[in-house]
Amino acid sequence: MSSFFTSSIGKKTMLSLSGFFLISFLCVHLTANLMLIVDSSGHIFNEVCHFMATNPVVRVIEPILALGFALHIVLASWLTLQNRAARPVKYARRDQSGNASWTSRNMYILGAMILVFLLLHLWNFWWKIKISGDPLLAPEPISGLENTYALVSSLFRESVLYCLLYMLGGILLGLHLSHGFGSAFQSVGLSNKVWRKRMTIIGNLFAIVVGTGFSIIPIYFLLGLGK
Ligand code: HEM
Repeated sequence: MSSFFTSSIGKKTMLSLSGFFLISFLCVHLTANLMLIVDSSGHIFNEVCHFMATNPVVRVIEPILALGFALHIVLASWLTLQNRAARPVKYARRDQSGNASWTSRNMYILGAMILVFLLLHLWNFWWKIKISGDPLLAPEPISGLENTYALVSSLFRESVLYCLLYMLGGILLGLHLSHGFGSAFQSVGLSNKVWRKRMTIIGNLFAIVVGTGFSIIPIYFLLGLGK
């Protein structure tokens, strides 16, 4: 059993399973974040954040999510190093002009760039909400809810650079998912010839929805539509 986890196929399977887990998180996170543009009073977004911060199931999932990210990064790095060591340089060069898509050849660098974005992002919001606090988080007057909307909206309203960085984050994530989604299904054996084509289309659609969904939020504030 332990040799399965250290074999290439075992690592690829675990990479895909951790990817599925992160994809589920992204769906929930995107849905919650879209409340920023659904309700410009910020109340619905603050309600959602309050629910996330106090719900016992979400509290249990949070450390598992951190482990899921860590596992995904470690396995991706391990497999990439292993593949590079096994493949002669000349072959790698020739492969660039082959059928492999640009995204499939650059999954690791895309993932590394998303990690840089993620660290910046956690410092922007998570760190202030959970650790350091911020005057912008002062409770809403009527509901008494922590004003997470004010923290997020002020970042985007006050900085074009941050708007651009978050749009870039959404695009990088979309590119990473456009290959990762279909590839994950293939790795766990859920993709025969017919389904491989279908999963590529579904993966691309999913990537467009997620990439556009995350990018549309800074664009909304950039256009002066948020409060
Ligand atoms: C416009 C885009 C985004 C906005 C407005 C946004 C907003 C937020 C906020 C407010 C938090 C803190 C939640 C809390 O602790 O109560 C958070 C946490 C987090 N975000 Fe984002 N996010 C965005 C994009 C992304 C993207 C693209 C990723 C993944 C690559 C991501 C991954 C995370 C993670 C892992 C956490 C920590 C877990 C959590 O607290 O739920 N976010 N985000």
